[in-house]
Amino acid sequence: MSEHLKLVDHPLVQHKLTLMRDKDTSTAVFRQLLREISQLLAYEVTRGLKMTTKRIQTPMAQMDAPTLAGKKLALISILRAGNGLLDGVLELIPSARVGFVGLYRDEKTLQPVQYYFKVPEGMEDRVVIAVDPMLATGNSSVAAIDLLKKRGASDIRFLCLLAAPEGIARMKEAHPDVPIVTAAVDERLNEVGYIVPGLGDAGDRMFGTK
Ligand code: URA
Repeated sequence: MSEHLKLVDHPLVQHKLTLMRDKDTSTAVFRQLLREISQLLAYEVTRGLKMTTKRIQTPMAQMDAPTLAGKKLALISILRAGNGLLDGVLELIPSARVGFVGLYRDEKTLQPVQYYFKVPEGMEDRVVIAVDPMLATGNSSVAAIDLLKKRGASDIRFLCLLAAPEGIARMKEAHPDVPIVTAAVDERLNEVGYIVPGLGDAGDRMFGTK
């Protein structure tokens, strides 16, 4: 992938996103929509993966058929909201390896602090897709990608549902080599770092915690 930002403007993605934004959409429907939309976004984020061929026998003839090359993909969920995107992507790429990055925001410094990190082996040889539905300030995304690079990852893509211009700029500055795939770029962040118009707190909406 070469473009830094890929906006997925497919009509199905946009329609589902509108339903997700609506504050009257129930937790169950929100979760189902997130699963569906994440599969459509996964289709875009995996575009251009390296291919090879494999000799197979169809019922009619032998052929050299296309197949994905290299090690299995690594999907990295940035906790906790990343898990909502992860489920749908995994349905589409069931053999992918999975990792988790847990970060919380220190109340005093406002900087992300790592509380959990577990990723597959061989990160240097894998295409790595980091997932988090909301790219807001970009602080946790940048920190998560710092950690993945430290573990050897070099081909990293970032998949989200909504992005704020501030988060995109922060990611572009810190990780210009990491393309972002999103369903929408919203207007701005509010004073407490929420995306406007956004969809609220993605974790609360998908897990029903509020
Ligand atoms: N995280 C969310 O869940 N929502 C936002 O709007 C921003 C960050």
